[in-house]
Amino acid sequence: METTTAQKSLERVISQKALQISSSTPCKLWVLGFFCGVCITYLFLVSLTPFRTQPFGLVFSSSSGAVSQSSSMIYSDVGTSAKYSFAPKFSQRKYISLPEEKGTLENSQGGETLSNEEGVLMLYSAWSALLDGEDNIFVGGLQRSNVPQAPHLENCRSSVEANKHFDNHGENGSFPPWTLWKGLLGLDQMHLAHRAKFEGAYPPWIVGSDEDNFPLTRKVQRDIWIHQHPQNCNDPNLRFLVADWERIPGFGMGAQLAGMAGLLAIAVNEKRILVTNYYNRADHSGCQGSLRSHWSCYFFPETSLECQKRAFDLLKSQEAWKNGIVTVKENYTSKEIWAGRIPRIWGDPWSYLQPTTDIGGNLLTHHRKMDRRWWRAQAIRYLMRFQSEYTCGLLNMARHKAFGLQAAKMVVENLPVAWPKVVDNRSQADIERFVWSNHKPWIPRPLLSMHVRMGDKACEMKVVGFENYMQLAERIRERFPNINSIWLSTEMQEFIDKSRLYPYWNFYYTNVTRQIGNTTMAAYEASLGREISTNNPLVNFMMASEADFFVGALGSTWCYLIDGMRNTGGKVMAGYLSVNKDRFW
Ligand SMILES: *[C@@H]1O[C@H](CO)[C@@H](O)[C@H](O)[C@H]1NC(C)=O
Ligand SMILES: *[C@@H]1O[C@H](CO)[C@@H](O)[C@H](O)[C@H]1NC(C)=O
Ligand SMILES: *[C@@H]1O[C@H](CO)[C@@H](O)[C@H](O)[C@H]1NC(C)=O
Ligand SMILES: *[C@@H]1O[C@H](CO)[C@@H](O)[C@H](O)[C@H]1NC(C)=O
Ligand SMILES: *[C@@H]1O[C@H](CO)[C@@H](O)[C@H](O)[C@H]1NC(C)=O
Repeated sequence: METTTAQKSLERVISQKALQISSSTPCKLWVLGFFCGVCITYLFLVSLTPFRTQPFGLVFSSSSGAVSQSSSMIYSDVGTSAKYSFAPKFSQRKYISLPEEKGTLENSQGGETLSNEEGVLMLYSAWSALLDGEDNIFVGGLQRSNVPQAPHLENCRSSVEANKHFDNHGENGSFPPWTLWKGLLGLDQMHLAHRAKFEGAYPPWIVGSDEDNFPLTRKVQRDIWIHQHPQNCNDPNLRFLVADWERIPGFGMGAQLAGMAGLLAIAVNEKRILVTNYYNRADHSGCQGSLRSHWSCYFFPETSLECQKRAFDLLKSQEAWKNGIVTVKENYTSKEIWAGRIPRIWGDPWSYLQPTTDIGGNLLTHHRKMDRRWWRAQAIRYLMRFQSEYTCGLLNMARHKAFGLQAAKMVVENLPVAWPKVVDNRSQADIERFVWSNHKPWIPRPLLSMHVRMGDKACEMKVVGFENYMQLAERIRERFPNINSIWLSTEMQEFIDKSRLYPYWNFYYTNVTRQIGNTTMAAYEASLGREISTNNPLVNFMMASEADFFVGALGSTWCYLIDGMRNTGGKVMAGYLSVNKDRFW
């Protein structure tokens, strides 16, 4: 039974893929092989430490006894096991304690102050402990109250709480409190007495103006949300489409997302509410309780819990099946899902997409699949509109590993000389709580996102060497000489090694076992395990979409989806430099 379903979806995908690549003969032979977990798997390998963050060379080579000891402690902490688990824990972390002779911070007397390096390391490790959820810290005299805020970490609980308001109808079915005031400012207007304007407000997950995004993004996101969130889910006129995520072993996350985008298009066209069901990538112990095996482990659910419940109830009713009130993925052909009609209720906004993609030195102004490109971007943006607390935690962890030391250095420079004995009185002013709270966590900007894809991708598109990607990065840097940081995501160890040939760039990447040689993606993913092979690419995807500039290979679905996040994330004008043409452009 299981096999039959898998077989069916395999066939459906293959037929779509075959359509796309039928022009390339050697690939035909490959089609089956690569769909059994190869080419469309855009797994990213994630490592967790900043590589060559030059400022820290200083810190770590400093040889004032205790500090260098402590620093090497930190380094060896950062991923002691071959497969670093993303579970939001720092296992085996050791905290910095100052050498006996100096005494603890608490009883150290008078003139003793921390050196800059000691301060940086202490702060970094205090933040690590807080991330671990340990309330009783740490070193000698350091307590929660004298640990300054971490600019690169988000308060996940409060973000999720706020976003829940933005993702639910208000009392008596009123519209969510989307206003022209941002974030908590919009939520707390009652308290601040008043007059946020509701009319004309757009979903808060869209950054930037209409001009900064694909055409109609703000309107479309609003309409999809409304479509997916009827006021009364028990209204007998409502119809549903309940779909599992594609689940063939090794089926890449990018392909799963693209498939779901197709199902959302069908749902919108047929005026059904899309309800997603089994998500194999969330089938691991990081996703607890009702989140297990569901999209909502990673992002807010695609529809309300009431509608989910209603849809699952309907699945049990023969009547509902018979009357077509509820359908499932198997009711649609692969062609309908993968190459179906893009909803036209907004006209054809794709006909005036901004040409901001550079391929081979030219702007791509027109191609045959503009509608699908536009739609997939909208669908992914909608599905990823709000992160779950789990995802937010994963990203905190990744940022801390990659940028935490840099952040500590910045913060320490700004602390009172006698810190931690003397602390700044942390401001709780309204401007902090309502206005600045809306800023995203700090990352070293400008940041260039580079996704390098190779390995078994070779049959799906022409493979390009790392040098070509770097040439594009350098082209960007010529114009914007202040860029020197690259978020490098790749599943190939080879490219990590090659990045060392470019010492005038800071590369950041996550620390995870990477693919070596020609192992298939499926085998490779299996070797990492479900949790890591999902969390790593996801973290990289979110980090990439936060970047300011983009280099990649649009022939890879993963890059194509990152590009979609750029185009619905207020970054149309950042442009995208691609090393190759997509196979269907
Ligand atoms: C990355 O992880 C490996 C083990 O997989 C570990 O040996 C190495 O020290 C880590 N690298 C850094 C910079 O922490
Ligand atoms: C909701 O409806 C109840 C009863 O009709 C009413 O008393 C209450 O004020 C309404 N709340 C809002 C926010 O409109
Ligand atoms: C969907 O598939 C089921 C089972 O194959 C079938 O009974 C039902 O009629 C189909 N619904 C529609 C709307 O085609
Ligand atoms: C910090 O600020 C608050 C309110 O402004 C004040 O009541 C408190 O005494 C201050 N604490 C210190 C240590 O300055
Ligand atoms: C992978 O590489 C090995 C040795 O280089 C070779 O023997 C094997 O056939 C290759 N496998 C595939 C699937 O290309």
